[in-house]
Amino acid sequence: MNQEEAQKMIEELRKAINYHNYRYYVLDSPEISDAEYDRLFDRLVELERRYPQLVTLDSPTQRVGALPLEKFGTVRHSLHMLSLSKALTEEEFLDFHRRVKDFGGVSDEEIEYVVDPKFDGLAVELIYRQGSFVQGSTRGDGFVGEDVTLNLKTIRSVPLRLFPQETPFLIEARGEVILNRSDFEALNQKREREGKPLFANPRNAAAGSVKQLDSKITASRPLNMFAYGIGLIEGKTLETHYQVMEYLKKLGFRVNEHTKLLRTTSEVIEYYHQMLELRKNLDYETDGIVIKVNDFSLQRRLGELQRSPRWAVAWKFPAQQETTVVRDIVVNVGRTGALTPVALLEPVEVGGVTVSRATLHNEDELKRKDVRIGDTVIVQRAGDVIPEVVAVVKSKRRGKERIFVMPDRCPVCGATTVRLEGEAAIRCTGISCPAQLKENIFHFASKGGMDIDGLGYRIIEQMVDKGLISDPADLYFLTKDDMFRLERMGDKLAQNILDSIVRSRKPPLSRLILSLGIRNVGEHLASVLAREFGSIDNLRKASLERLVEVKEIGPVVAESIYAFFQDPKNLSVLDKLKRGGVVFGEERKAVYTPLKGRTFVLTGGLSSMTRSQAKERIERLGGRVSPSVSGKTDFVVVGENPGSMLPDAQRLKGRIIIETEVKGMI
Ligand code: IVH
Repeated sequence: MNQEEAQKMIEELRKAINYHNYRYYVLDSPEISDAEYDRLFDRLVELERRYPQLVTLDSPTQRVGALPLEKFGTVRHSLHMLSLSKALTEEEFLDFHRRVKDFGGVSDEEIEYVVDPKFDGLAVELIYRQGSFVQGSTRGDGFVGEDVTLNLKTIRSVPLRLFPQETPFLIEARGEVILNRSDFEALNQKREREGKPLFANPRNAAAGSVKQLDSKITASRPLNMFAYGIGLIEGKTLETHYQVMEYLKKLGFRVNEHTKLLRTTSEVIEYYHQMLELRKNLDYETDGIVIKVNDFSLQRRLGELQRSPRWAVAWKFPAQQETTVVRDIVVNVGRTGALTPVALLEPVEVGGVTVSRATLHNEDELKRKDVRIGDTVIVQRAGDVIPEVVAVVKSKRRGKERIFVMPDRCPVCGATTVRLEGEAAIRCTGISCPAQLKENIFHFASKGGMDIDGLGYRIIEQMVDKGLISDPADLYFLTKDDMFRLERMGDKLAQNILDSIVRSRKPPLSRLILSLGIRNVGEHLASVLAREFGSIDNLRKASLERLVEVKEIGPVVAESIYAFFQDPKNLSVLDKLKRGGVVFGEERKAVYTPLKGRTFVLTGGLSSMTRSQAKERIERLGGRVSPSVSGKTDFVVVGENPGSMLPDAQRLKGRIIIETEVKGMI
């Protein structure tokens, strides 16, 4: 092969690699296997090695990172990179809309908005001359940013060459570099194993990765970029923001699938609420939506305030993270005797809920995060999970903060504590520790368990303290006179609680199994066991070998189930439950599991049943319900009236079905 032929070959390989890279990282729909892609790539590397004079800066081989820099250069943005003014409520969004009308001198009908999620990452600008990526920078102070060209080159969704059909002479693309949640988790797990400090959230991890002097480190992080606008452009005329987004897509940029053109404020409000719901299922973090006036001439008429334009606004979601001060650290003793350190906080609103306690998980976490009494900390709430302390704001330390040491005795019963090998938890060894007993009974009576309405923690606490009950089965022998010994217990309340106890005697088997509090048996395994064994008596008789045979049960879990049913104390509680009238499930020989091996994700409200009912029914038929969409999802169930979310959900993995369909299936 002569040089001319090599040049031709190299060009073809680059084109093919760029295209397949685009299919994979931008469209998320590859056309060839990873192995085939690697073969193309290796061929290019080999040719470029033989003909180093043919290597160009925009070759796909240049994504691997270069030699470390001493420091970053600076880049002056040709057009100021603005920030966004914020709206926190619907009212404030409507105020924004009113200003658009007043300053723009337009009516409601003349305004169109482009809306997209507000990505929580790092803003960057990418300059392309004649289709080649030449320089990339961070936003910096809006006027001057840092030159992170080498780092941005390593990001697979950043095109190094634009698709040729419509390449302008010059374009400055703007967007956000992000790290997916799942990649963030994996990165932190790896760092934990290596004993490195963890990132507090995906945004910090993304920003830290882009601002690396060593681009090889950036290359090792699976970053992503969403393009959301442009700076300067030469050689192409565009009149609306939506045209810009379509154009960016054609050039090969990754544009978010939820970007939409909307015509009325009520559509925008609906979009906000849909995104608020949908964000839980997205693998990247969004902290609001961005609303931009579509028409450029109207944008120009509206102009800018000091730092932000009058034609755009960020309508934020309620924050999931806040900072506050740790007043004290206490220890909570759980159902299994595990001692959990808990931070008592200066109350703070997080995502619309006041948070005054946050878990510190265990001794190792406490040490790793180095949380001290008096520290300023970042707390986080995600959905229904218990709030947690994410990180300490070390710059706020004044030297008076106190280190907390885990106690060597149980704070509730005074028994010694132990930490078993390979376990993160320190446990209380007291066999009659009242804390464990109370938590145990609370778990037994909770919604996912026997579902005894009205039996809250305070009441259970009193029942235990007054000696009315000493295990869950005692509940079924309570009398009204017993109830009257509790504080503030009237006739009606006592009767209601006794009625709910009686009603709870015929639970679905899976909930009965869950309520027993067998170590390592959560909601899902409880359903598996119910399906597999059909009754408590069968489960009780199961040998260790028989348990391990069940597909989803590993040796550790099998051991803890087996041990549970060997313990004479547990067996006597089971007998007492039976005597108290609790039904242990009938023997069922053939179980009908048509949904076996299928994974469902439920989103939005269903109209004919609650989500937990739907979940229970799907699981009874052998299916699995998972909280978020992944490669393993078979069906995404969208409730009735999904509005404009349906086309969005359609681009997610898995098949979309609506409520009536899933009802048909179950
Ligand atoms: S448009 C003037 N769209 O928000 C409009 N910005 O506060 C300029 N951001 O630093 C930005 N997602 O990094 C726009 N979909 C989106 C965005 C977005 C996140 C960030 C951007 C900027 C900050 C402005």
